[in-house]
Amino acid sequence: MSERTPIVAGNWKMNTTQAEGRAWVEAFVKELPEGQPGVEIAVCPPFTGLATVAEALGDYPAVVMSQTIHDEPKGAHTGEVSAAMVRATGARGTILGHSERRAAGETDEMVANRVRAALDAGLFVILCCGESLEQREAGETEAWVSKQVRAGLRAISHEWTDRLALAYEPIWAIGTGKTATPEMAQETCAQVRAAAAGFIDASRVRVLYGGSVNAENAADLMAQPDIDGGLVGGASLDPAGFATIVRAAAP
Ligand code: 13P
Repeated sequence: MSERTPIVAGNWKMNTTQAEGRAWVEAFVKELPEGQPGVEIAVCPPFTGLATVAEALGDYPAVVMSQTIHDEPKGAHTGEVSAAMVRATGARGTILGHSERRAAGETDEMVANRVRAALDAGLFVILCCGESLEQREAGETEAWVSKQVRAGLRAISHEWTDRLALAYEPIWAIGTGKTATPEMAQETCAQVRAAAAGFIDASRVRVLYGGSVNAENAADLMAQPDIDGGLVGGASLDPAGFATIVRAAAP
């Protein structure tokens, strides 16, 4: 078994009001009153829910992360939120380079700048990569995800290894119910890890799988040697289901 501590993060995407976030925390804490020893738990509400959810969690062993940040510390960037602003809500990290943000125009260069800005502001980073169905069918998966990882880590070196995680999320598996098979997810997560070598300590960095992870398939995915947890979308909105996924990641 790997010595890397798994991370299970719930990406709520554009879901949950503040009241719904509070209700989620209440229900989740009932499911797992002590947290889950051996697993780091994160929840990623929309910006509007960061402070509320952080406050509702209090001393509970789970952290709050945002779904992105802007790379500039402040200024004329209507609609954007800086790393320091996220940090000031009580959040401890951020997802970066999610395919839904890349589809909305986030480039590799923007992602790299945001990785650096987040780390400099003291945030933990979950850096995402993933290929489209066309790319997988054309045999381009490894080259594509490796390029995304190398680009995102461009300004990063070994001392940041424990402050970030990589997430492999095949675009064709996100929100579709089509999970990558555990073997397929393992193969690409190993390639993602290998791509990080030279920038950070690849043997130590946590690599998460995301894309239609649910309470039924989580255990098989988490059992793979290069999968150190999950980035969970739809299934994370249900506190009981998310708790089952967290348990499945326990060593
Ligand atoms: P689903 O779990 O809904 O497929 O979403 C995955 C994802 O994009 C998490 O960031």
